[in-house]
Amino acid sequence: MTRLSVNINKVALLRNARGGNLPDLIQFARDCEAYGAEGITVHPRPDQRHVRYSDIPALREVVTTEFNIEGNPTPEFLELVLAHPPHQCTLVPDAAHQLTSDHGWDTLEHADFLRAVIARLHDRGIRVSLFVDADPRMVEGAQAVGADRVELYTGPYAHQFPDDPAAAIAPYLAAAQAAHQCGLGLNAGHDLNLDNLPYFRQHCPHLLEVSIGHALISDALYFGIANTIRLYQKALQPKK
Ligand code: PXP
Repeated sequence: MTRLSVNINKVALLRNARGGNLPDLIQFARDCEAYGAEGITVHPRPDQRHVRYSDIPALREVVTTEFNIEGNPTPEFLELVLAHPPHQCTLVPDAAHQLTSDHGWDTLEHADFLRAVIARLHDRGIRVSLFVDADPRMVEGAQAVGADRVELYTGPYAHQFPDDPAAAIAPYLAAAQAAHQCGLGLNAGHDLNLDNLPYFRQHCPHLLEVSIGHALISDALYFGIANTIRLYQKALQPKK
């Protein structure tokens, strides 16, 4: 089974556009779970243009499935996560004002830093996933620094998928195999949508979780959030 974690950053972005509390992010998280989401993901960035640091305590209280906080482990981010421990923390090497994440960790170059951060998160009982490119060396490096899981960055897959699905998925098969062999759990995310998700799910083995935001929230404008979650769950069903 592959869990669907809904990234609600774009809902916060909409709320922040007017300065009030519409849409209500906390209620939206609750509703996603009621409609079948198996996790809620947020990515608080330093400029807080999406989810704000102040949203985290209430989200931590209401999310009953799996709460996943992702982000660059700056001192402020770590303080936040350690104070309101989620089920999972996904570490992402994104710059402060980056539009969106566009690469994974070099787990070899940043090994000492990652090892120290992961140890602090583990002390609070938080599962740690490292966002990495689909490269077996980076996956093995993640295992060496003590990560529990990797999240494969699926942007390159999504971009190549319309032209050549088999070539697009190939590096992910190797990375998934490497994760399985070294005992790491496997997540994936970025640019996944209703077109490219079924093929990824069918062909990438051992996939525990996908986190999806931009396309899913965009689809919800047309289908409504309850239907959209159902459609994504259908896309994640194993082929009979
Ligand atoms: N995983 C990570 C690490 C991300 O930074 C993001 C975007 O916030 C996602 C997954 C979800 O990507 P998308 O919004 O394209 O579904």
